[in-house]
Amino acid sequence: MLKPFHLRQSTAHKRLVELASSAGALHLRELFAEDPSRLQRMSASLGGMFVDWSKHRVTEEVMEALFALAEEAGWKEGVQGLYAGEHVNQTEDRAVLHMALRGAAADGFTVDGVDVMDEVLATRHAMGSYADAVRSSDRITDVVNIGIGGSDLGPLMVTKALRSLSHKGPRVHFVSNVDGAHLESVLDGLNPESTLFIVVSKTFTTQETMANADAAKSWVESASLPVSDHFAAVSTNIPAAVRFGVKAEHVFGFRDWVGGRYSLWGPVGLSIACSVGSSTFAELLSGARAMDRHFAEAPARENLPLISALLGVWYREYMGFSTHVVLPYAQDLDRFPAYLQQADMESNGKYVGRDGQPVEHPTGPVVWGEAGTNGQHAFYQLLHQGTDIHPADIIAVEAPLSAYTDHHTKLLANAIAQAEALMCGRNESEVREEMRASGRSQSEIDAIAPHRVFRGNRPSTFILLDALNAKNVGQLIALYEHRIFVQGLLWNVCSYDQWGVELGKVLAKNILAEWAEEGDAPTHDASTQHLIDRLKR
Ligand code: F6P
Repeated sequence: MLKPFHLRQSTAHKRLVELASSAGALHLRELFAEDPSRLQRMSASLGGMFVDWSKHRVTEEVMEALFALAEEAGWKEGVQGLYAGEHVNQTEDRAVLHMALRGAAADGFTVDGVDVMDEVLATRHAMGSYADAVRSSDRITDVVNIGIGGSDLGPLMVTKALRSLSHKGPRVHFVSNVDGAHLESVLDGLNPESTLFIVVSKTFTTQETMANADAAKSWVESASLPVSDHFAAVSTNIPAAVRFGVKAEHVFGFRDWVGGRYSLWGPVGLSIACSVGSSTFAELLSGARAMDRHFAEAPARENLPLISALLGVWYREYMGFSTHVVLPYAQDLDRFPAYLQQADMESNGKYVGRDGQPVEHPTGPVVWGEAGTNGQHAFYQLLHQGTDIHPADIIAVEAPLSAYTDHHTKLLANAIAQAEALMCGRNESEVREEMRASGRSQSEIDAIAPHRVFRGNRPSTFILLDALNAKNVGQLIALYEHRIFVQGLLWNVCSYDQWGVELGKVLAKNILAEWAEEGDAPTHDASTQHLIDRLKR
Protein backbone atom coordinates (compact mmCIF):
# COMPACT_ATOMS: atom_id res chain seq x y z
CA MET A 1 0.00 0.00 0.00
CA LEU A 2 1.30 3.47 -0.83
CA LYS A 3 1.45 5.78 2.12
CA PRO A 4 -0.56 9.01 1.99
CA PHE A 5 1.39 12.06 0.82
CA HIS A 6 0.29 15.61 1.50
CA LEU A 7 1.97 17.58 -1.22
CA ARG A 8 1.08 21.00 0.17
CA GLN A 9 2.56 20.14 3.54
CA SER A 10 5.91 19.10 2.11
CA THR A 11 9.10 21.13 2.39
CA ALA A 12 9.66 21.02 -1.36
CA HIS A 13 6.20 22.49 -1.92
CA LYS A 14 7.14 25.75 -0.20
CA ARG A 15 10.18 26.07 -2.40
CA LEU A 16 8.17 25.28 -5.51
CA VAL A 17 5.56 27.93 -4.63
CA GLU A 18 8.37 30.49 -4.30
CA LEU A 19 9.89 29.43 -7.60
CA ALA A 20 6.52 29.48 -9.33
CA SER A 21 5.94 33.08 -8.31
CA SER A 22 8.90 34.17 -10.42
CA ALA A 23 8.55 31.52 -13.14
CA GLY A 24 5.89 33.53 -14.98
CA ALA A 25 8.55 36.06 -15.91
CA LEU A 26 10.86 33.48 -17.48
CA HIS A 27 10.70 33.15 -21.24
CA LEU A 28 11.96 29.98 -22.85
CA ARG A 29 13.77 32.05 -25.45
CA GLU A 30 15.87 33.55 -22.66
CA LEU A 31 16.44 30.24 -20.93
CA PHE A 32 17.89 28.89 -24.17
CA ALA A 33 19.93 32.04 -24.83
CA GLU A 34 21.42 31.92 -21.33
CA ASP A 35 22.37 28.26 -21.38
CA PRO A 36 24.04 26.70 -24.42
CA SER A 37 23.94 23.27 -22.79
CA ARG A 38 20.20 23.32 -22.08
CA LEU A 39 19.30 20.77 -24.75
CA GLN A 40 22.10 18.39 -23.70
CA ARG A 41 21.07 18.59 -20.08
CA MET A 42 17.39 18.18 -20.81
CA SER A 43 17.17 15.41 -23.34
CA ALA A 44 17.96 11.70 -23.41
CA SER A 45 17.68 8.60 -25.55
CA LEU A 46 16.36 5.22 -24.55
CA GLY A 47 16.37 2.50 -27.19
CA GLY A 48 14.79 4.01 -30.30
CA MET A 49 13.27 6.90 -28.38
CA PHE A 50 14.69 10.40 -28.03
CA VAL A 51 13.01 12.67 -25.50
CA ASP A 52 13.63 16.42 -25.43
CA TRP A 53 12.17 18.25 -22.44
CA SER A 54 14.29 21.38 -22.85
CA LYS A 55 11.30 23.41 -24.02
CA HIS A 56 9.73 23.39 -20.57
CA ARG A 57 9.37 26.39 -18.32
CA VAL A 58 11.70 25.09 -15.67
CA THR A 59 15.12 26.10 -14.42
CA GLU A 60 17.66 23.86 -12.71
CA GLU A 61 16.30 25.14 -9.39
CA VAL A 62 12.77 24.12 -10.31
CA MET A 63 13.94 20.65 -11.36
CA GLU A 64 15.89 20.29 -8.11
CA ALA A 65 12.81 21.20 -6.10
CA LEU A 66 10.64 18.82 -8.13
CA PHE A 67 13.08 15.96 -7.53
CA ALA A 68 13.05 16.87 -3.82
CA LEU A 69 9.26 16.67 -3.91
CA ALA A 70 9.44 13.20 -5.44
CA GLU A 71 11.94 12.18 -2.75
CA GLU A 72 9.63 13.41 -0.01
CA ALA A 73 6.77 11.47 -1.58
CA GLY A 74 8.97 8.37 -1.48
CA TRP A 75 8.87 7.68 -5.21
CA LYS A 76 11.65 5.07 -5.06
CA GLU A 77 9.95 3.09 -2.31
CA GLY A 78 6.67 3.49 -4.20
CA VAL A 79 8.19 1.93 -7.31
CA GLN A 80 9.73 -0.86 -5.26
CA GLY A 81 6.36 -1.59 -3.65
CA LEU A 82 4.62 -1.56 -7.01
CA TYR A 83 7.09 -4.01 -8.54
CA ALA A 84 7.06 -6.17 -5.42
CA GLY A 85 3.34 -6.80 -5.83
CA GLU A 86 2.22 -4.79 -2.81
CA HIS A 87 -1.49 -4.02 -2.79
CA VAL A 88 -1.04 -0.63 -4.40
CA ASN A 89 -4.68 -0.75 -5.52
CA GLN A 90 -5.74 -0.25 -1.93
CA THR A 91 -9.49 0.25 -2.32
CA GLU A 92 -9.80 -3.04 -4.19
CA ASP A 93 -7.04 -4.65 -2.12
CA ARG A 94 -5.06 -5.80 -5.14
CA ALA A 95 -1.56 -5.72 -6.51
CA VAL A 96 -0.90 -3.73 -9.69
CA LEU A 97 1.37 -5.79 -11.86
CA HIS A 98 0.77 -5.14 -15.53
CA MET A 99 4.60 -5.13 -15.75
CA ALA A 100 4.46 -8.90 -15.17
CA LEU A 101 2.45 -9.32 -18.38
CA ARG A 102 5.44 -8.08 -20.34
CA GLY A 103 7.98 -9.59 -18.02
CA ALA A 104 10.44 -12.45 -18.48
CA ALA A 105 10.70 -15.57 -16.34
CA ALA A 106 13.76 -14.13 -14.61
CA ASP A 107 11.81 -11.08 -13.45
CA GLY A 108 10.09 -13.25 -10.86
CA PHE A 109 7.09 -11.00 -10.26
CA THR A 110 5.12 -12.26 -7.29
CA VAL A 111 1.60 -11.62 -6.06
CA ASP A 112 0.86 -12.49 -2.45
CA GLY A 113 4.06 -14.49 -2.32
CA VAL A 114 3.38 -16.54 -5.44
CA ASP A 115 5.55 -16.20 -8.57
CA VAL A 116 3.12 -15.38 -11.38
CA MET A 117 5.50 -15.66 -14.29
CA ASP A 118 4.84 -19.31 -15.15
CA GLU A 119 1.16 -18.61 -15.58
CA VAL A 120 1.80 -15.36 -17.47
CA LEU A 121 4.19 -17.06 -19.88
CA ALA A 122 1.86 -20.02 -20.43
CA THR A 123 -1.01 -17.66 -21.29
CA ARG A 124 1.27 -15.61 -23.52
CA HIS A 125 2.27 -18.76 -25.35
CA ALA A 126 -1.33 -19.98 -25.70
CA MET A 127 -2.66 -16.67 -26.98
CA GLY A 128 0.32 -16.29 -29.33
CA SER A 129 -0.24 -19.73 -30.84
CA TYR A 130 -3.93 -19.02 -31.21
CA ALA A 131 -3.26 -15.66 -32.88
CA ASP A 132 -0.75 -17.21 -35.27
CA ALA A 133 -3.24 -19.97 -36.14
CA VAL A 134 -5.89 -17.32 -36.88
CA ARG A 135 -3.41 -15.47 -39.06
CA SER A 136 -2.51 -18.54 -41.06
CA SER A 137 -6.06 -19.83 -41.36
CA ASP A 138 -7.76 -19.48 -44.74
CA ARG A 139 -11.09 -19.46 -42.97
CA ILE A 140 -10.79 -16.17 -41.05
CA THR A 141 -10.48 -12.92 -42.99
CA ASP A 142 -11.86 -10.57 -40.34
CA VAL A 143 -11.46 -10.35 -36.59
CA VAL A 144 -13.85 -8.20 -34.56
CA ASN A 145 -12.77 -7.16 -31.06
CA ILE A 146 -15.83 -6.52 -28.90
CA GLY A 147 -14.96 -4.65 -25.72
CA ILE A 148 -15.00 -1.16 -24.22
CA GLY A 149 -12.66 1.07 -22.21
CA GLY A 150 -9.46 -0.79 -21.47
CA SER A 151 -10.79 -3.78 -23.36
CA ASP A 152 -10.95 -1.65 -26.51
CA LEU A 153 -8.83 1.49 -26.44
CA GLY A 154 -5.43 -0.12 -25.86
CA PRO A 155 -5.82 -2.93 -28.42
CA LEU A 156 -7.37 -0.52 -30.93
CA MET A 157 -4.66 2.09 -30.50
CA VAL A 158 -1.82 -0.45 -30.83
CA THR A 159 -3.41 -2.30 -33.75
CA LYS A 160 -3.62 1.02 -35.60
CA ALA A 161 -0.11 2.03 -34.53
CA LEU A 162 1.33 -1.20 -35.94
CA ARG A 163 -0.71 -1.11 -39.14
CA SER A 164 2.42 -1.25 -41.26
CA LEU A 165 3.42 -4.55 -39.60
CA SER A 166 0.09 -6.29 -40.11
CA HIS A 167 0.75 -7.76 -43.56
CA LYS A 168 -0.82 -11.14 -44.20
CA GLY A 169 -2.95 -10.81 -41.07
CA PRO A 170 -6.74 -10.65 -41.00
CA ARG A 171 -8.49 -7.30 -41.03
CA VAL A 172 -9.11 -6.32 -37.41
CA HIS A 173 -12.14 -4.25 -36.40
CA PHE A 174 -13.28 -2.86 -33.08
CA VAL A 175 -16.80 -2.50 -31.72
CA SER A 176 -17.26 -0.78 -28.38
CA ASN A 177 -20.22 1.58 -28.24
CA VAL A 178 -23.62 0.31 -27.16
CA ASP A 179 -25.03 2.39 -29.99
CA GLY A 180 -26.06 -0.39 -32.39
CA ALA A 181 -24.79 1.74 -35.24
CA HIS A 182 -21.27 0.80 -34.20
CA LEU A 183 -21.81 -2.93 -34.52
CA GLU A 184 -23.96 -2.51 -37.60
CA SER A 185 -21.39 -0.39 -39.40
CA VAL A 186 -18.66 -2.97 -38.69
CA LEU A 187 -20.75 -6.02 -39.61
CA ASP A 188 -21.87 -4.36 -42.83
CA GLY A 189 -19.79 -5.97 -45.50
CA LEU A 190 -18.46 -8.81 -43.30
CA ASN A 191 -19.20 -12.46 -43.98
CA PRO A 192 -20.14 -14.45 -40.84
CA GLU A 193 -18.40 -17.52 -42.26
CA SER A 194 -15.03 -15.80 -42.25
CA THR A 195 -15.43 -13.61 -39.16
CA LEU A 196 -14.01 -14.30 -35.72
CA PHE A 197 -15.26 -12.31 -32.72
CA ILE A 198 -13.07 -11.80 -29.69
CA VAL A 199 -15.17 -10.76 -26.72
CA VAL A 200 -12.89 -8.90 -24.35
CA SER A 201 -14.18 -8.03 -20.92
CA LYS A 202 -12.34 -8.26 -17.64
CA THR A 203 -15.65 -8.80 -15.83
CA PHE A 204 -17.71 -10.30 -18.67
CA THR A 205 -20.67 -8.30 -17.34
CA THR A 206 -20.17 -4.89 -18.95
CA GLN A 207 -23.48 -3.80 -20.44
CA GLU A 208 -22.14 -2.45 -23.72
CA THR A 209 -19.88 -5.43 -24.39
CA MET A 210 -22.49 -8.02 -23.53
CA ALA A 211 -25.11 -6.28 -25.70
CA ASN A 212 -22.71 -6.27 -28.64
CA ALA A 213 -21.54 -9.83 -27.99
CA ASP A 214 -25.15 -11.10 -27.82
CA ALA A 215 -26.01 -9.35 -31.07
CA ALA A 216 -22.90 -10.73 -32.77
CA LYS A 217 -23.80 -14.19 -31.54
CA SER A 218 -27.29 -13.86 -33.08
CA TRP A 219 -25.67 -12.71 -36.32
CA VAL A 220 -23.53 -15.85 -36.42
CA GLU A 221 -26.43 -18.10 -35.41
CA SER A 222 -28.72 -16.60 -38.03
CA ALA A 223 -26.17 -17.73 -40.63
CA SER A 224 -26.54 -21.27 -39.19
CA LEU A 225 -22.94 -21.30 -37.99
CA PRO A 226 -21.69 -22.75 -34.70
CA VAL A 227 -20.96 -19.99 -32.19
CA SER A 228 -17.98 -21.88 -30.81
CA ASP A 229 -16.20 -21.71 -34.18
CA HIS A 230 -16.58 -17.95 -34.39
CA PHE A 231 -15.89 -16.70 -30.89
CA ALA A 232 -12.92 -16.40 -28.61
CA ALA A 233 -12.96 -14.55 -25.30
CA VAL A 234 -10.62 -12.79 -22.91
CA SER A 235 -11.66 -12.34 -19.31
CA THR A 236 -10.89 -12.85 -15.64
CA ASN A 237 -14.37 -14.43 -15.50
CA ILE A 238 -13.69 -17.62 -17.48
CA PRO A 239 -16.89 -19.47 -16.46
CA ALA A 240 -19.07 -16.63 -17.81
CA ALA A 241 -17.24 -16.73 -21.15
CA VAL A 242 -17.72 -20.49 -21.40
CA ARG A 243 -21.42 -20.11 -20.53
CA PHE A 244 -21.66 -17.59 -23.36
CA GLY A 245 -20.66 -20.35 -25.77
CA VAL A 246 -16.91 -19.96 -26.23
CA LYS A 247 -14.84 -23.16 -26.21
CA ALA A 248 -12.86 -23.35 -22.97
CA GLU A 249 -9.58 -23.60 -24.90
CA HIS A 250 -10.42 -20.32 -26.65
CA VAL A 251 -10.96 -18.37 -23.46
CA PHE A 252 -7.81 -16.58 -22.36
CA GLY A 253 -7.77 -15.59 -18.72
CA PHE A 254 -5.96 -13.00 -16.70
CA ARG A 255 -5.91 -11.96 -13.07
CA ASP A 256 -7.45 -9.12 -11.13
CA TRP A 257 -4.02 -7.60 -10.47
CA VAL A 258 -4.16 -6.24 -14.04
CA GLY A 259 -6.31 -3.12 -14.37
CA GLY A 260 -8.46 -2.87 -17.50
CA ARG A 261 -6.68 0.24 -18.78
CA TYR A 262 -3.28 -1.41 -18.23
CA SER A 263 -4.21 -4.74 -19.75
CA LEU A 264 -3.23 -4.64 -23.42
CA TRP A 265 -0.01 -6.52 -22.66
CA GLY A 266 -1.73 -9.81 -21.91
CA PRO A 267 -4.58 -11.65 -23.59
CA VAL A 268 -6.53 -8.39 -23.90
CA GLY A 269 -4.00 -7.75 -26.67
CA LEU A 270 -5.19 -10.83 -28.58
CA SER A 271 -6.56 -8.72 -31.43
CA ILE A 272 -3.16 -6.98 -31.68
CA ALA A 273 -1.47 -10.39 -31.90
CA CYS A 274 -3.97 -11.51 -34.56
CA SER A 275 -3.11 -8.42 -36.54
CA VAL A 276 0.69 -8.50 -36.32
CA GLY A 277 1.54 -12.02 -35.14
CA SER A 278 2.98 -13.31 -31.89
CA SER A 279 6.60 -12.39 -32.58
CA THR A 280 5.79 -8.73 -33.23
CA PHE A 281 3.55 -8.78 -30.17
CA ALA A 282 6.56 -10.05 -28.21
CA GLU A 283 8.54 -7.04 -29.48
CA LEU A 284 5.84 -4.75 -28.12
CA LEU A 285 6.24 -6.39 -24.73
CA SER A 286 10.01 -6.15 -24.85
CA GLY A 287 9.81 -2.40 -25.49
CA ALA A 288 7.54 -1.93 -22.51
CA ARG A 289 9.81 -4.11 -20.38
CA ALA A 290 12.81 -1.95 -21.35
CA MET A 291 10.90 1.08 -20.02
CA ASP A 292 9.95 -0.86 -16.88
CA ARG A 293 13.63 -1.57 -16.21
CA HIS A 294 14.58 2.02 -16.91
CA PHE A 295 11.88 3.32 -14.56
CA ALA A 296 12.95 0.97 -11.77
CA GLU A 297 16.70 1.46 -12.20
CA ALA A 298 17.54 4.88 -13.65
CA PRO A 299 18.49 7.61 -11.18
CA ALA A 300 15.95 10.40 -10.78
CA ARG A 301 17.73 12.90 -13.02
CA GLU A 302 17.75 10.45 -15.92
CA ASN A 303 14.43 8.80 -15.26
CA LEU A 304 12.13 9.64 -18.14
CA PRO A 305 8.74 8.69 -16.62
CA LEU A 306 9.68 10.49 -13.40
CA ILE A 307 10.77 13.65 -15.21
CA SER A 308 7.68 13.63 -17.40
CA ALA A 309 5.45 13.20 -14.33
CA LEU A 310 7.18 15.99 -12.40
CA LEU A 311 6.82 18.43 -15.27
CA GLY A 312 3.11 17.62 -15.35
CA VAL A 313 2.82 18.25 -11.59
CA TRP A 314 4.71 21.53 -11.95
CA TYR A 315 2.21 22.78 -14.49
CA ARG A 316 -0.91 21.48 -12.78
CA GLU A 317 -0.07 22.48 -9.21
CA TYR A 318 2.28 25.43 -9.55
CA MET A 319 1.51 27.08 -12.88
CA GLY A 320 -2.23 26.43 -12.88
CA PHE A 321 -2.37 24.79 -16.32
CA SER A 322 -5.26 22.37 -16.30
CA THR A 323 -4.88 20.29 -19.44
CA HIS A 324 -2.25 18.20 -21.15
CA VAL A 325 -2.40 17.98 -24.91
CA VAL A 326 -0.92 15.04 -26.78
CA LEU A 327 -0.10 15.56 -30.43
CA PRO A 328 1.12 12.51 -32.35
CA TYR A 329 2.58 13.46 -35.70
CA ALA A 330 1.81 9.99 -37.02
CA GLN A 331 -1.58 9.10 -38.43
CA ASP A 332 -1.10 5.53 -37.21
CA LEU A 333 -0.95 6.90 -33.65
CA ASP A 334 -4.16 8.85 -34.02
CA ARG A 335 -5.92 6.88 -31.27
CA PHE A 336 -3.09 7.49 -28.83
CA PRO A 337 -4.75 10.57 -27.24
CA ALA A 338 -8.02 8.64 -26.76
CA TYR A 339 -6.14 5.71 -25.23
CA LEU A 340 -4.27 8.05 -22.92
CA GLN A 341 -7.46 9.79 -21.86
CA GLN A 342 -8.64 6.61 -20.24
CA ALA A 343 -5.23 5.59 -18.90
CA ASP A 344 -4.64 8.97 -17.28
CA MET A 345 -8.07 10.40 -16.48
CA GLU A 346 -9.59 7.17 -15.15
CA SER A 347 -6.46 6.74 -13.01
CA ASN A 348 -5.87 10.20 -11.62
CA GLY A 349 -9.16 12.06 -12.04
CA LYS A 350 -9.99 11.80 -8.33
CA TYR A 351 -10.62 14.20 -5.45
CA VAL A 352 -10.36 11.73 -2.58
CA GLY A 353 -6.89 11.02 -1.27
CA ARG A 354 -5.35 7.74 -0.18
CA ASP A 355 -6.28 8.60 3.40
CA GLY A 356 -9.96 8.85 2.45
CA GLN A 357 -9.98 12.66 2.82
CA PRO A 358 -10.58 15.12 -0.03
CA VAL A 359 -7.26 16.29 -1.44
CA GLU A 360 -6.54 20.00 -1.13
CA HIS A 361 -5.03 20.50 -4.57
CA PRO A 362 -5.87 19.76 -8.21
CA THR A 363 -5.19 16.24 -9.46
CA GLY A 364 -5.23 14.76 -12.97
CA PRO A 365 -5.43 17.20 -15.88
CA VAL A 366 -7.77 16.95 -18.82
CA VAL A 367 -5.89 14.91 -21.42
CA TRP A 368 -6.76 15.59 -25.00
CA GLY A 369 -5.27 15.76 -28.46
CA GLU A 370 -5.41 14.79 -32.07
CA ALA A 371 -2.99 13.68 -34.73
CA GLY A 372 -0.93 16.41 -36.36
CA THR A 373 -1.29 17.98 -38.81
CA ASN A 374 -5.10 17.71 -38.57
CA GLY A 375 -5.10 19.38 -35.16
CA GLN A 376 -3.21 22.35 -36.63
CA HIS A 377 -6.25 23.16 -38.73
CA ALA A 378 -8.63 22.78 -35.82
CA PHE A 379 -7.53 23.82 -32.34
CA TYR A 380 -3.93 25.01 -32.61
CA GLN A 381 -5.17 28.61 -32.79
CA LEU A 382 -6.09 28.20 -29.12
CA LEU A 383 -2.80 26.47 -28.33
CA HIS A 384 -0.86 29.42 -29.71
CA GLN A 385 -3.01 32.40 -28.80
CA GLY A 386 -5.64 31.17 -26.35
CA THR A 387 -5.77 32.65 -22.87
CA ASP A 388 -4.85 29.34 -21.21
CA ILE A 389 -1.61 27.45 -21.66
CA HIS A 390 -1.73 23.75 -22.53
CA PRO A 391 1.56 21.90 -22.10
CA ALA A 392 1.99 19.63 -25.09
CA ASP A 393 3.65 16.34 -25.89
CA ILE A 394 4.59 16.20 -29.54
CA ILE A 395 5.32 12.67 -30.73
CA ALA A 396 7.02 12.20 -34.09
CA VAL A 397 8.55 9.29 -35.95
CA GLU A 398 11.78 9.50 -37.91
CA ALA A 399 11.19 6.69 -40.43
CA PRO A 400 8.41 7.31 -42.94
CA LEU A 401 5.20 5.47 -42.24
CA SER A 402 4.11 5.22 -45.84
CA ALA A 403 5.53 5.02 -49.32
CA TYR A 404 4.81 8.75 -49.70
CA THR A 405 8.15 9.81 -48.33
CA ASP A 406 7.77 13.45 -49.40
CA HIS A 407 4.71 13.63 -47.21
CA HIS A 408 6.84 12.48 -44.33
CA THR A 409 9.33 15.31 -44.60
CA LYS A 410 6.45 17.75 -44.58
CA LEU A 411 4.91 16.03 -41.56
CA LEU A 412 8.16 16.20 -39.60
CA ALA A 413 8.78 19.81 -40.58
CA ASN A 414 5.35 20.66 -39.21
CA ALA A 415 5.98 18.82 -35.94
CA ILE A 416 9.26 20.64 -35.33
CA ALA A 417 7.81 23.98 -36.45
CA GLN A 418 4.91 23.73 -34.03
CA ALA A 419 7.20 23.04 -31.09
CA GLU A 420 9.33 26.02 -32.13
CA ALA A 421 6.32 28.29 -32.62
CA LEU A 422 4.82 27.32 -29.27
CA MET A 423 8.09 28.07 -27.54
CA CYS A 424 9.46 31.11 -29.37
CA GLY A 425 6.30 32.82 -30.48
CA ARG A 426 6.75 36.07 -32.40
CA ASN A 427 7.00 39.46 -30.73
CA GLU A 428 5.45 42.68 -31.89
CA SER A 429 8.59 44.23 -33.32
CA GLU A 430 9.17 41.10 -35.42
CA VAL A 431 5.59 41.26 -36.64
CA ARG A 432 5.81 44.96 -37.49
CA GLU A 433 9.13 44.48 -39.27
CA GLU A 434 7.74 41.66 -41.35
CA MET A 435 4.62 43.63 -42.27
CA ARG A 436 6.69 46.64 -43.24
CA ALA A 437 8.88 44.45 -45.42
CA SER A 438 5.84 43.11 -47.21
CA GLY A 439 4.69 46.65 -48.02
CA ARG A 440 1.78 47.02 -45.57
CA SER A 441 0.73 50.60 -44.71
CA GLN A 442 1.37 52.01 -41.24
CA SER A 443 -2.36 52.05 -40.42
CA GLU A 444 -2.70 48.40 -41.46
CA ILE A 445 0.32 47.51 -39.35
CA ASP A 446 -1.12 49.31 -36.31
CA ALA A 447 -4.49 47.60 -36.71
CA ILE A 448 -3.32 44.07 -37.43
CA ALA A 449 0.05 43.66 -35.70
CA PRO A 450 -1.37 42.94 -32.19
CA HIS A 451 -3.39 40.06 -33.62
CA ARG A 452 -0.33 38.57 -35.22
CA VAL A 453 1.79 38.54 -32.10
CA PHE A 454 2.42 35.17 -30.46
CA ARG A 455 3.65 35.40 -26.89
CA GLY A 456 5.17 31.96 -27.17
CA ASN A 457 6.61 30.48 -23.98
CA ARG A 458 4.22 27.56 -24.35
CA PRO A 459 5.92 24.38 -23.20
CA SER A 460 6.25 21.10 -25.00
CA THR A 461 8.09 17.80 -24.80
CA PHE A 462 9.30 16.41 -28.12
CA ILE A 463 9.35 12.61 -28.30
CA LEU A 464 11.03 11.27 -31.39
CA LEU A 465 10.83 7.56 -32.20
CA ASP A 466 13.29 6.26 -34.77
CA ALA A 467 10.52 4.08 -36.24
CA LEU A 468 6.93 3.21 -35.41
CA ASN A 469 7.88 -0.36 -34.62
CA ALA A 470 6.43 -2.60 -31.92
CA LYS A 471 9.32 -2.10 -29.53
CA ASN A 472 9.11 1.67 -29.62
CA VAL A 473 5.33 1.65 -29.26
CA GLY A 474 5.64 -0.59 -26.19
CA GLN A 475 8.23 1.70 -24.70
CA LEU A 476 6.14 4.79 -25.41
CA ILE A 477 3.02 3.41 -23.73
CA ALA A 478 4.95 2.23 -20.68
CA LEU A 479 6.50 5.71 -20.36
CA TYR A 480 3.02 7.15 -19.89
CA GLU A 481 1.86 4.34 -17.61
CA HIS A 482 4.71 5.07 -15.22
CA ARG A 483 4.17 8.82 -15.50
CA ILE A 484 0.61 8.19 -14.32
CA PHE A 485 1.89 6.14 -11.38
CA VAL A 486 4.23 8.89 -10.20
CA GLN A 487 1.62 11.60 -10.56
CA GLY A 488 -0.93 9.52 -8.65
CA LEU A 489 1.66 9.04 -5.91
CA LEU A 490 2.30 12.78 -5.64
CA TRP A 491 -1.37 13.71 -5.86
CA ASN A 492 -2.15 11.16 -3.17
CA VAL A 493 -4.87 9.41 -5.17
CA CYS A 494 -5.62 5.72 -5.69
CA SER A 495 -4.68 5.50 -9.36
CA TYR A 496 -5.85 1.94 -9.93
CA ASP A 497 -9.52 2.00 -9.02
CA GLN A 498 -12.36 3.71 -10.89
CA TRP A 499 -15.27 4.14 -8.49
CA GLY A 500 -16.28 7.30 -10.33
CA VAL A 501 -17.69 5.30 -13.24
CA GLU A 502 -20.05 3.28 -11.04
CA LEU A 503 -22.90 5.70 -10.38
CA GLY A 504 -23.73 6.31 -14.03
CA LYS A 505 -23.79 2.55 -14.66
CA VAL A 506 -26.21 1.96 -11.76
CA LEU A 507 -28.51 4.80 -12.77
CA ALA A 508 -28.59 3.62 -16.38
CA LYS A 509 -29.66 0.18 -15.13
CA ASN A 510 -32.43 1.72 -13.04
CA ILE A 511 -33.68 3.83 -15.91
CA LEU A 512 -33.63 0.84 -18.20
CA ALA A 513 -35.75 -1.11 -15.72
CA GLU A 514 -38.23 1.77 -15.46
CA TRP A 515 -38.45 1.92 -19.22
CA ALA A 516 -40.19 -1.41 -19.21
CA GLU A 517 -42.69 -0.38 -16.54
CA GLU A 518 -46.20 0.90 -17.24
CA GLY A 519 -47.03 4.53 -16.34
CA ASP A 520 -44.83 7.45 -15.41
CA ALA A 521 -44.57 7.35 -11.61
CA PRO A 522 -42.04 10.15 -10.96
CA THR A 523 -38.98 8.96 -9.08
CA HIS A 524 -36.40 11.42 -10.41
CA ASP A 525 -35.83 15.15 -10.46
CA ALA A 526 -38.06 17.03 -12.90
CA SER A 527 -35.48 17.25 -15.66
CA THR A 528 -34.45 13.59 -15.58
CA GLN A 529 -38.05 12.48 -15.30
CA HIS A 530 -39.10 14.63 -18.24
CA LEU A 531 -36.43 13.10 -20.48
CA ILE A 532 -37.43 9.55 -19.50
CA ASP A 533 -41.15 10.22 -20.00
CA ARG A 534 -40.60 12.01 -23.26
CA LEU A 535 -38.49 9.19 -24.72
CA LYS A 536 -40.76 6.46 -23.38
CA ARG A 537 -43.66 8.02 -25.21
O1 F6P B 1 -15.30 2.32 -17.59
C1 F6P B 1 -15.13 1.50 -16.51
C2 F6P B 1 -14.46 0.21 -16.86
O2 F6P B 1 -14.52 -0.58 -15.73
C3 F6P B 1 -13.01 0.38 -17.33
O3 F6P B 1 -12.13 0.56 -16.29
C4 F6P B 1 -12.82 -0.86 -18.09
O4 F6P B 1 -11.68 -0.80 -18.89
C5 F6P B 1 -14.12 -0.93 -18.85
O5 F6P B 1 -15.08 -0.48 -17.93
C6 F6P B 1 -14.49 -2.27 -19.40
O6 F6P B 1 -14.59 -3.23 -18.41
P1 F6P B 1 -14.57 -4.77 -18.75
O7 F6P B 1 -13.26 -5.10 -19.36
O8 F6P B 1 -14.80 -5.46 -17.45
O9 F6P B 1 -15.70 -5.04 -19.72
